[in-house]
Amino acid sequence: VEETLVLVKPDGVARNLTGEILRRIEAKGYQLVDIKLVEPDRELLAQHYEEHQGKPFYEPLVEFMESGPIVALRIAGNRVIEGFRSLAGTTDPTTAAPGTIRGDLARDWGLAVQQNLVHGSDSPESAERELALWFD
Ligand code: GTP
Ligand code: MG
Repeated sequence: VEETLVLVKPDGVARNLTGEILRRIEAKGYQLVDIKLVEPDRELLAQHYEEHQGKPFYEPLVEFMESGPIVALRIAGNRVIEGFRSLAGTTDPTTAAPGTIRGDLARDWGLAVQQNLVHGSDSPESAERELALWFD
């Protein structure tokens, strides 16, 4: 069965939304396989976001991800990679569809990086790579 990495980003943990986010994942029927609270170092974040190195939002993104604890989730289910991305909604919280995690719970705070509550792997290759990084 397919697995994906979901991260409840520091804004989600700080706003006490971890339970609500996990509730939506479980209500959809996906299985929680592993969970932990993590304070990632720069090295882990640099590897996690290597595709974004050099982009204007990269530094603010890494600083945001270092700003507080993150909850890492290993989630399983048929087509869960695509399915969680659909539950999460699009990257920009302002235009993410209502009914999605980002659409319902996140908004644009006018900061240098989108504080959009969650991360979800975007392909089977990313999921395998990211799960190895966060859960070895
Ligand atoms: P993740 O699940 O977190 O990977 O989000 P995503 O796949 O929807 O977005 P992407 O991988 O393209 O970007 C990673 C993160 O960088 C996003 O979740 C945002 O926090 C931030 N980000 C991406 N694009 C922009 C942008 O154009 N402007 C700003 N300010 N932040 C961005
Ligand atoms: Mg991404």
